Amino acid sequence: MRNFTNVTDIGPLDIAVKEALEVKNNRFGYTHLGKNKTLLMIFFNSSLRTRLSTQKAAMNLGMNVMVLDVNQGAWKLETERGVVMDGDKAEHLLEAIPVMGSYCDIIGVRSFAGLKDKAEDYEERVINQFIKYSGRPVFSMEAATRHPLQSFADLITIEEFKTKERPKVVMTWAPHPKALPQAVPNSFAEWMNATDYDFVITHPEGYELAPEFVGKARVEYDQRKALEGADFVYAKNWSAFADPNYGKVLNTDRAWTVDTEKMALTDNAFFMHCLPVRRNMIVTDDVIESDRSIVIPEAANREISAQVVIKRLLESL
Ligand code: CP
Repeated sequence: MRNFTNVTDIGPLDIAVKEALEVKNNRFGYTHLGKNKTLLMIFFNSSLRTRLSTQKAAMNLGMNVMVLDVNQGAWKLETERGVVMDGDKAEHLLEAIPVMGSYCDIIGVRSFAGLKDKAEDYEERVINQFIKYSGRPVFSMEAATRHPLQSFADLITIEEFKTKERPKVVMTWAPHPKALPQAVPNSFAEWMNATDYDFVITHPEGYELAPEFVGKARVEYDQRKALEGADFVYAKNWSAFADPNYGKVLNTDRAWTVDTEKMALTDNAFFMHCLPVRRNMIVTDDVIESDRSIVIPEAANREISAQVVIKRLLESL
């Protein structure tokens, strides 16, 4: 694997999950791969889980790790060609990227959607520039349109907890006060569509995701109907994708909050969320604290998804 930005990069999912479970049982069995190798993690945006789990995964593999928070201590970076750089941006990404590449063996990048210009976000300009100009394998730590390390961890978690061969997985929109990118729901849909699960997406009208991510999923606008018989409930907020409302919050209707009454419609479903989560907006205290909430093992599996991805990138150096 040369780069990791989406589900197709990981290959067959049954093999990837099997490898993940092996790595989970033998986290320190591959330290020879990372000896004298350096991972550079570059954050254009904040993180708790991605930062810690990815660093831990690289350390499990025997790597050295460097972390750069671009907005805290680095020069402000210009990303557009042709700009007369007479403002506050001291360095261009086109110099910064190969320089960063010269100090490391593998690069992880987190760069969210700006939610102002759909075309710019969906062409994934930042991570694609790293792939083009760094000379190093690059993996996404959440880009503008996808969060594949999260989705891989979600898949591992579902495989660990499922009691049916073909579980019903429902991804439900839930309210949030701020505009969030579509990266997590896009990516979750992309990975679920690559399985044979019964996959349903539910959201208020106006929150339709890009058709290429919805794929073969069933879309049900009635949240209660969607939740009937679910084995897994995956809650997430996202801002509108469709024009002319791209990147906007259309409503914060708490009738969509996942609560005990909604979970009672399911087949004793497990509750999932990528975290961080706004309690009593996305999900009630009772549900996230219940014994059916698996948000903590889900987050713990971020270490495992990251370790499989970095392991594969090391193996291809
Ligand atoms: N789920 C996730 O990516 O968490 P962080 O934003 O804290 O990294």
